[in-house]
Amino acid sequence: MRPIHVGLLGLGTVGGGIFKVLQRNQEEIRRRAGRGIEIRKAAVRDAEKARRLVAGTNVAITQDAYEVVRDPDVEIVVELIGGTDLARELVMAAIDNGKHVVTANKALLALHGNEVFAAAQKRGVMVAFEAAVAGGIPIIKALREGLTANRIEWIAGIINGTSNFILSQMRDRGAGFHEVLAEAQQRGYAEADPTFDIEGIDAAHKLTILAAIGFGIPMQFERAYTEGIAKLTRQDIRYADQLGYRIKLLGIARRTPEGIELRVHPTLIPHRRLIANVEGVMNAVLVKGDAVGSTLYYGAGAGAEPTASAVVADLVDVTRLHTADPESRVPHLAFQPDSLSDVPVLPMEAVRTAYYLRLRVLDRPGVLADITRILADRSISIDAMLQKEPDEGEEQVDIIMLTHVALERNVNDAIARIQELPTNLAPVTRIRLEELGS
Ligand code: NAP
Ligand code: HSE
Repeated sequence: MRPIHVGLLGLGTVGGGIFKVLQRNQEEIRRRAGRGIEIRKAAVRDAEKARRLVAGTNVAITQDAYEVVRDPDVEIVVELIGGTDLARELVMAAIDNGKHVVTANKALLALHGNEVFAAAQKRGVMVAFEAAVAGGIPIIKALREGLTANRIEWIAGIINGTSNFILSQMRDRGAGFHEVLAEAQQRGYAEADPTFDIEGIDAAHKLTILAAIGFGIPMQFERAYTEGIAKLTRQDIRYADQLGYRIKLLGIARRTPEGIELRVHPTLIPHRRLIANVEGVMNAVLVKGDAVGSTLYYGAGAGAEPTASAVVADLVDVTRLHTADPESRVPHLAFQPDSLSDVPVLPMEAVRTAYYLRLRVLDRPGVLADITRILADRSISIDAMLQKEPDEGEEQVDIIMLTHVALERNVNDAIARIQELPTNLAPVTRIRLEELGS
């Protein structure tokens, strides 16, 4: 049988990785897919650079991306341009032309996934997106197929390689934030706009996708709470360490009786949890199902070939299934499109979690009593406390408190009240804490 024909939109970090993996492993891939997978055309901006990469092959290079999505010879379009405007137009045009689509673009799916999947469903084509979440880890496959027996209770993941790389390097090498970010960019981990990585936006895009397939809800990126790592200090990383915790940028989606929590923020995790020891560009996703219990998925979260591994797996899936009856394929969002639930996503104020609070106060009698009274009045109970000795001649002291699980609204209120105390000397630092036990 002749190979299936693929058109690439983009031949950068991920596109280049796909080109190499398909060339190197073509025989293994053909044996798995039942036929070869051949890149026929690729769209880029810099044609000369791309021609050098594909020299000696039959890949045609174009600077007109629409040429790829309209080409009758192309059966699968792989979108690797990134962004949400042109990428959306191209993907919708590809679907309209009856092409199957593979994409690594989490921003596109988090923002326009509902529209994209509805169009694909109507046209009877597949949209595959394994590479959109956690790079090379087959987490979409695991959630959508491997865990279908379960009612998913929660998902918690380190799902941005760049920010995890930055946090690890800051902690282990004492390296500066901007220096490590530049290294992540140079290695091809970061988004075109790296604020997406640092501000937690990229992780929120991925979490939106995970929550949709975990709970059978539509994509609702606009309801996700997002807080990044830019304000984290080495001091908090050190204090957390002394208390037995690591700080990670975590995406958390949790089912509660009131609705779904959907939040990305720096989080203290106990040292003893495996996920707390995930370092560098590695990602990990913990999924708690009611039947299976906790399962953990680990691997490279970004980079050319790990991401290519996920894209090529999608290409193999599409090659195996494209002749199957569309009704018999795995639904895009794991649940049948007419069975999605309208359970609400909770506002952050309604979330319940534990907290790390760092206060800078005057070292005077009664100060601690005032603070603990404010907390107690709002049903916030203290789990552990650390008071740093003031430096010689200093009157100021750092107090670090870990709370039990409390309502975010009450914690906001308590922080506001503490900051009004005349003995409080600086804004209170608040970092959320998750035990992630089974
Ligand atoms: P990249 O290295 O910047 O590559 C983007 C490619 O798109 C380049 O080849 C660029 O051409 C091409 N391109 C951009 N605008 C174009 C246009 N208007 N017409 C034609 N070609 C155009 O990006 P990347 O890191 O490969 O990321 C691609 C996608 O994968 C993004 O959605 C990203 O979020 C996602 N992703 C990336 C990673 C990762 O580790 N990098 C991991 C998972 C998912 P030129 O080369 O000529 O500029
Ligand atoms: N910029 C992303 C990250 C790429 O660092 O995780 C992988 O999605």
